[in-house]
Amino acid sequence: MSAEENIEESPERYFIGKKEDVIQAKRVSKFVNGRDILVIYHEGKFYAMDAHCYHAGGLLENGDIEELNNKLCIVCPSHKYKITLAEGEGIYKASNPKEKNPIPKWFSKGIKQRVHTVLEVGGDIFVKMSEVRGWIESDYYQTEKYRQEKAMC
Ligand code: FES
Repeated sequence: MSAEENIEESPERYFIGKKEDVIQAKRVSKFVNGRDILVIYHEGKFYAMDAHCYHAGGLLENGDIEELNNKLCIVCPSHKYKITLAEGEGIYKASNPKEKNPIPKWFSKGIKQRVHTVLEVGGDIFVKMSEVRGWIESDYYQTEKYRQEKAMC
């Protein structure tokens, strides 16, 4: 971490990069405040979420972004779970086989991925960490326990 980054950071926000650099990169992964964070630039907007998928810890960095059920989602490259960019909601499509003519519909699993707030300050991009209380499934992949398990594989 550079001295410049230290000056720009505060307990509330963490420097990710220059806005133009983040826009050009489209995806930036960074370890901030003890978490692996993924910042995404897509169609003029910034999003931030835990970098490891809530399902099994897959890295979301190379996931496709698709509009599904009228929401922008990242599709995890590992097993194709869909996560809304803005809320971290897990969504899936299914049909009821007991229906006579089953029509697939979208369903929500609720918030599964912790999302963070992106701030633009003077041409720089910062992330303000989520303050949502309680356990969100992606939290597991930010723990020391998980990092140790992964290191042993
Ligand atoms: Fe992301 Fe399985 S790890 S879908």
